[in-house]
Amino acid sequence: MKVQLHNKSLDTLVTQALIVTVPEGKDEALPKKLGDLIPKAAHQSFTGQLDQVLTVFPAVGSIDRIVLVGLGDGKGSRSGAELFRRAVALGIKQLTAKDSADIAIYLGGLFEPTYLTDAVLMALIAPYQYRAHRSKKEDGPSGFARLALVAPEAADSRVVRRALREATIIGAAIIHARNLINTPSNFMTPSQLGTVATQVAEEDPALVATVWGEAELRKRQFGALLAVSQGSQEEAQLITLEYRPKVKSQKSASARQPSRDGSKIKTVALVGKGITFDSGGVNLKPSAHIGDMHLDMAGGAVVLATVAAAAALKLPIHVVGVIAASENMPSGSALKPGDVITSHSGLTIDVQDTDAEGRLVLADGLDHAAIFKPDYLIDIATLTGAVIVTLGEDRTAVLGNNQALIDRLTAAGEASGELVWPLPLDDDYRAYVKSDIADVTNLGKGKGRPAATIVGGAFLEKFVPKGIPWAHLDIGGTAMRSEPGPYWPKGGSGTGVRLLIELLKRLSV
Ligand code: BES
Ligand code: ZN
Ligand code: ZN
Repeated sequence: MKVQLHNKSLDTLVTQALIVTVPEGKDEALPKKLGDLIPKAAHQSFTGQLDQVLTVFPAVGSIDRIVLVGLGDGKGSRSGAELFRRAVALGIKQLTAKDSADIAIYLGGLFEPTYLTDAVLMALIAPYQYRAHRSKKEDGPSGFARLALVAPEAADSRVVRRALREATIIGAAIIHARNLINTPSNFMTPSQLGTVATQVAEEDPALVATVWGEAELRKRQFGALLAVSQGSQEEAQLITLEYRPKVKSQKSASARQPSRDGSKIKTVALVGKGITFDSGGVNLKPSAHIGDMHLDMAGGAVVLATVAAAAALKLPIHVVGVIAASENMPSGSALKPGDVITSHSGLTIDVQDTDAEGRLVLADGLDHAAIFKPDYLIDIATLTGAVIVTLGEDRTAVLGNNQALIDRLTAAGEASGELVWPLPLDDDYRAYVKSDIADVTNLGKGKGRPAATIVGGAFLEKFVPKGIPWAHLDIGGTAMRSEPGPYWPKGGSGTGVRLLIELLKRLSV
């Protein structure tokens, strides 16, 4: 999709479709030239209420159709930016690439880099569908050829060009994550995830991928990751995707060297749960939702896409992505409830439930990530079903050992539209993971039901070295949508990509 800024008069705009977002009762605020193209009857029936959509076909001029979308009165809880994203997405979905190859979005006074970025982002991600396994390739939306952002008063500056470039990169990252998540587990195996990371690294010299298979993992004693994998025919993989920014005016780019303003470039480690299929293992899941369990590598997909995007954006920050990838299967060789295993950190784990496997692979992933001495350590995982009960599909839970990092994630969530909500983590909850026979148990007290999402965090904290600011994001509810929404399809959402890119931008100096 070719994106350009249209900052000339509206008369000179030639497009098959112009999307216009309108606050409730404010269509008289549209510029006269635009208002005149809309028939009187349309002015009367379109009020601008939330989610109202009306397409009009002007009798004159070079705009084939105008899609009016209501923003509502703005008095609800959603931010103006989120109302704008949803309205643009709704407008975009009225159009098909077949009859609108050239589209335009009217920005008018909403001329700030974030609105530019969001408009382009919505054009990229709202029409997304996962169609890789349909034998008929031609049906279904296939992206627009050209997009014009209409802001008659705006100057075509570097800021504008950067906003457009940023949107293209973030959009591609979200689509990449969605594709990885939606790919069925017979294709998206741990090894395939490793191959994808290697391919991504080959495309950018600032990225390096390291993929360890089971022989390497055994040698290095990644006992928790291997334990989860031992019932599966697929080999576990520990995937590291590292982005080191090229620091100008320095001989070698090192994350520990000072940046231009003299401050240290930060190192952020992102650890993703990469369970390519979670059957539950010997604690087999009931059949109702087991068919969705290829989603259980969503954290890993988000980490992969985010690190690649950080590199494409050339953010001045060192990012280490670690994906602990495995299948969780029952078999004669599978891990059994009651087994005790030794993690890479040396801590022993009393495995009371083989379906609480995410925290096992993350234990080794977190321990590995810590060797990069990150300034911030963040894991992202479809860790619990309980988080769906708590927050549904609309917010990601965040827990951690550092309030400032939790606050930063909360702020990045509000800015990006991927909202997070904190849960407590204190000594009362830490007591839930005490084991009778080992250093820690993977199932909290009360058969794992009380405070299950918090207990997941309390377990993971044991594998974070003291002194490293750490946060855990539970995307159990947000990684996959059960119904389509304004800018997401049913299935993999890619939630976490925008959030983490926004955080990395804020941590970049
Ligand atoms: N992958 C699941 C969590 C999950 C379930 C995410 C449904 C998204 C949708 C995880 O491995 C799991 O099974 N967790 C258990 C933990 C329990 C045994 C403590 C759960 O949530 O039931
Ligand atoms: Zn599980
Ligand atoms: Zn799982």
